[in-house]
Amino acid sequence: MKKFVLLFTVLVSFGTSLFAFTPPDEGMWLPMFVDRLNYVDMQKMGLHLTADEIYSINNSSLKDAIVGLSTQSKPNGYFCTAEIVSDQGLMFTNHHCGFDVIQQHSSLEHDYLRDGFWAMEKADELPNDALTASFLIRMEDVTDSIIPFLNDSMSEGQRSAKVGEISARLKKQASEDGKYNVVVKGFFGGNEYYLFVYNVYEDVRLVGAPPSSIGKYGGDTDNWMWPRHTGDFSIFRVYTAPDGSSAKYSEDNVPLKPKHYLPVSIKGVEKNDFAMIWGYPGSTNRYMTSYGVDFNMNKLAPPLIDLLGKKLEIMKEDMDASQEVRIKYASTYASTANGWKYYIGQSRGLKKLDVITKKREIENRFTNWVDADEARKEKYGGVLNELKEGYLKAGEAVGPLLYINLGLMGADIIGYANGFSQYEQQLKDVKDNPEAPKQTAEGLRESAKEHFKDYNAPTDQKILAGLYEMYATDVPEEQWPDFFKDINKKYKGDFDKFAAEIFEKSIFSSQEKVDAFLDKPSAKKLAKDPAYKLANEVMSALMGAVGGYQGAQTALSHGKRLFVDGLRKMDPNMVRYPDANSTMRLTYGKVEDYYPADAVHYDYVTHLYGVMQKEDPDNPEFVVAPKLKELFESKDYGRYGKNDTLNVCFLTTNDITGGNSGSPVINGNGELIGLAFDGNWEAMSGDIAFEPELQRTICVDTRYVLFIIDKYAGAHNLIEEMTIVE
Ligand code: ARG
Repeated sequence: MKKFVLLFTVLVSFGTSLFAFTPPDEGMWLPMFVDRLNYVDMQKMGLHLTADEIYSINNSSLKDAIVGLSTQSKPNGYFCTAEIVSDQGLMFTNHHCGFDVIQQHSSLEHDYLRDGFWAMEKADELPNDALTASFLIRMEDVTDSIIPFLNDSMSEGQRSAKVGEISARLKKQASEDGKYNVVVKGFFGGNEYYLFVYNVYEDVRLVGAPPSSIGKYGGDTDNWMWPRHTGDFSIFRVYTAPDGSSAKYSEDNVPLKPKHYLPVSIKGVEKNDFAMIWGYPGSTNRYMTSYGVDFNMNKLAPPLIDLLGKKLEIMKEDMDASQEVRIKYASTYASTANGWKYYIGQSRGLKKLDVITKKREIENRFTNWVDADEARKEKYGGVLNELKEGYLKAGEAVGPLLYINLGLMGADIIGYANGFSQYEQQLKDVKDNPEAPKQTAEGLRESAKEHFKDYNAPTDQKILAGLYEMYATDVPEEQWPDFFKDINKKYKGDFDKFAAEIFEKSIFSSQEKVDAFLDKPSAKKLAKDPAYKLANEVMSALMGAVGGYQGAQTALSHGKRLFVDGLRKMDPNMVRYPDANSTMRLTYGKVEDYYPADAVHYDYVTHLYGVMQKEDPDNPEFVVAPKLKELFESKDYGRYGKNDTLNVCFLTTNDITGGNSGSPVINGNGELIGLAFDGNWEAMSGDIAFEPELQRTICVDTRYVLFIIDKYAGAHNLIEEMTIVE
């Protein structure tokens, strides 16, 4: 969703990790293999559907109700998951997945973040420029079309070029003249390849969202934690052209007629109930080695936490002081805070659960297996060392890289100014091609509107000053790029003064100045602009820093592929699942409590009275909406409550990660019982090593979701179009 999220993916996507056994709850399984690998197990645990009813490419099946959410028209991955819940394309996802869209539609007059939004009829639903819904048509193992054309003498670069070339051909064949979006992805570190065919719908409208005091109740304090009392859901609707095909927004579009939609159960959940979760987990590193764990804990996380923490602190100050700034920065703040807390929790978990030792045990077993055979020694003998060296190199490179990427480039003005570099060149070449700059200017005018809509220059100025000051303090002088030395000298370390001057003199600090420049553009003026000049310097420093890091990555991707290959051969009878890579997976487990620490027991369920227990009118994260309080006081829960209580959230043992947000939690009859929205604090290292005793998925109960829609919002229109199982 956000810039830094993309960066994280790059940084952490090369790890390798391993599990010795696969307990029932662990594993993010590929739906096409469910029949062969998981079905018997699932039946034993409480699944009543046939394998064909959950995944079929010929008949409609459960998988047809599962949606990948993206901002792109041809996505390669999904930021969240959603599910279809009516025969008119109605769709549930999390509030935090819809947050960016809700923010886009918010203003001082219509603060949907604060007050919520409900379309009481279809005409009121809000269209979105960049929100797409992908439905998986089918998937296919294409390993044999790719692997035979690769060999060990290829460099990693040659190898990925070859994979790209073959994939392009496969994608073309499967796309049926562009009707489908086709994606080919590597699995098990590039030892297998699969192809995915999707139908992508581009008209997705906002239908409903509770106020943040419900959808984000507990805020960043409760985020990543149990016990939880958040109504983390929002509602959308998918539209198609009148003939059912995908189309961009048009008044003539009609609600999607889905192949399948999920009935919504309000029967309630009990401990040990079967639960499966379908969706698009983004990335895990379960095959990561001890070297990777050390890298994550000691090299990657500390600078990330410091840099993001600084930015959050500055944003928060201004957001607290102004509702306008709060609306503008709400989405960036939430996703930054989410990533920041994730890394704090992950480092803590890795240490507390001594994941390094667990990984070393696996590596020792691997080494013994390799040493027992000459041919194995030949093939795998160097792999652990390769990974060790790779992580050492990556460890040296990652700090400087992050300090440039999130520090020197951390203020928005830098990236924004850098977006004008092509334009500068075109202005210089205007004699050869007089049309090019005109066209570009139109695009830049449009993007200026977008950019400044969610921008507050005084906040960005403080961010620039704060992060440059931090760079000066944290990064040893011998690592400073020359331009930074010059700044430090010129301003005698006074970065407030430095930032003030940039913002005063640059055209990039306000839309008026950018528009005025585009009315009378000049390459010279651009080249002299202080923010533009700074952006050029920072970009070249970044290129240098990325180089060292990418070198290490090459070794790591080679090492990971070989290591995972060896592990699979070492235990040929063990059923292993591939790491998450934003492809459709299912995980099955059960509703269950846990013991977070000695003598501490956490129940698997929370209630509305718990929302009231946490209430704090002086803390914006724990304010309870008056209407919700009234409903609580009158115990007006309708068919959603039982014995004067209303359930809010529950826990399951399912194996999920980021990207699964919004995923349906489904019972043994294929009915929706909840929406997955978070993981728990005690197992934040779970993306690297699954912890069966501690790791839980946090879900919002469908009874709470429907109660809010029905009783709180009065959106009976929505209740009526769903199939509710009582
Ligand atoms: N931790 C959740 C996830 O990564 C996001 C929850 C959003 N809530 C918040 N308070 N920022 O999916």
